[in-house]
Amino acid sequence: LMAEKGGYRHFMLKEIHEQPRAVRDTIAGRLLEDSGDVHLGDLNFNDQQLSRIRRIVIVACGTSWHAALLGKFYLEGRCRIPVEVDIASEFRYRDPVIDGSTLMMVISQSGETADTLAALREAKSRGAMAMAICNVVDSSIAREAGNVIYTHAGPEIGVASTKAFVTQLTALYLFTIRLGRSIGSIDAETGKAMLASLKRVPSLLEEVLKLNGCTEKIARKYMNARDFLYLGRGKNYPIALEGALKLKEISYIHAEGYPAGEMKHGPIALIDEDMPVVVLAPRNSAFEKTLSNMEEVIARSGRVIALCSAGDDEVSGRAEDVIQIPRLDEDMDPLLLSVPLQLLAYHVAVLKGTDVDQPRNLAKSVTVE
Ligand code: G6P
Repeated sequence: LMAEKGGYRHFMLKEIHEQPRAVRDTIAGRLLEDSGDVHLGDLNFNDQQLSRIRRIVIVACGTSWHAALLGKFYLEGRCRIPVEVDIASEFRYRDPVIDGSTLMMVISQSGETADTLAALREAKSRGAMAMAICNVVDSSIAREAGNVIYTHAGPEIGVASTKAFVTQLTALYLFTIRLGRSIGSIDAETGKAMLASLKRVPSLLEEVLKLNGCTEKIARKYMNARDFLYLGRGKNYPIALEGALKLKEISYIHAEGYPAGEMKHGPIALIDEDMPVVVLAPRNSAFEKTLSNMEEVIARSGRVIALCSAGDDEVSGRAEDVIQIPRLDEDMDPLLLSVPLQLLAYHVAVLKGTDVDQPRNLAKSVTVE
């Protein structure tokens, strides 16, 4: 079994470490560097079909839903098409507004999640164009969607999704480039710059994995906390949600992800010297605002674990614990930030002695309602 786990103690740790390779495989053979475009072999929409899209609805469950939330930022920001994101079990029962100019995108690692499959069928029956982002080739969702972007994460065994998530974000970025180049919202130069950023991700993920020891120390310090709060703004808000979900799933510690600016409308009441607050504060357009949210936590004796850009003294000087990630750009930061949050959850769980790969009450793929 140890061999199956590649020498790692758990599948989850192995899969966390496979992320540079997983992203490399997900972009391999797909980048058209001369035209700043991408080639997606299982996505059969032509330019004329793509130009019909007036609205995009992304539907998923769990970790895949968090990927969808970031996809909204990519697609609206770069393609200027309105995007709505929904949870599959909600979407399928709410009599959704869908027509032939709606692109229904479902995201599923397994391709077998019952609610996601039902949501896809519902949208198709109302005439939507359909596509899926899937990790499992020929899964039910991949087959029924017809148009697919496969993530090449490889088999994911750990119940808590890690490498599948990061490759879903990669696939969303690839699709954003394809759609934007097709409809003209992304010019060749911008497309090339986006490809260049994407290409740097695998080696930067390797850098980020070196934070393993540092996150373990932080895990040891906070493992007995009863609750954790994760804060992020903009593109990093979905990552805050995902960080909190990882911790909940495998360590059984209550954790909540919140948009940092919304903290004052509720969670701020919970802050005290016992509650670790993970703040995602890389240098980006939301940086100053996030920093002031961090100050609000510190002023109430909250204990801040900050994730910031390498060499950021402003954050490092204030937070109790700091995790620094390499600088890349605002679009790709969420991928880099995901890794230390996975490692933090992993180490807390290991220290608490839970069953990391098979957490209680959870299933890898939920094929019943
Ligand atoms: C289960 C798994 C999660 C996963 C979710 C959606 O709850 O435990 O890790 O994110 O299903 O799965 P899917 O295969 O559709 O991405």
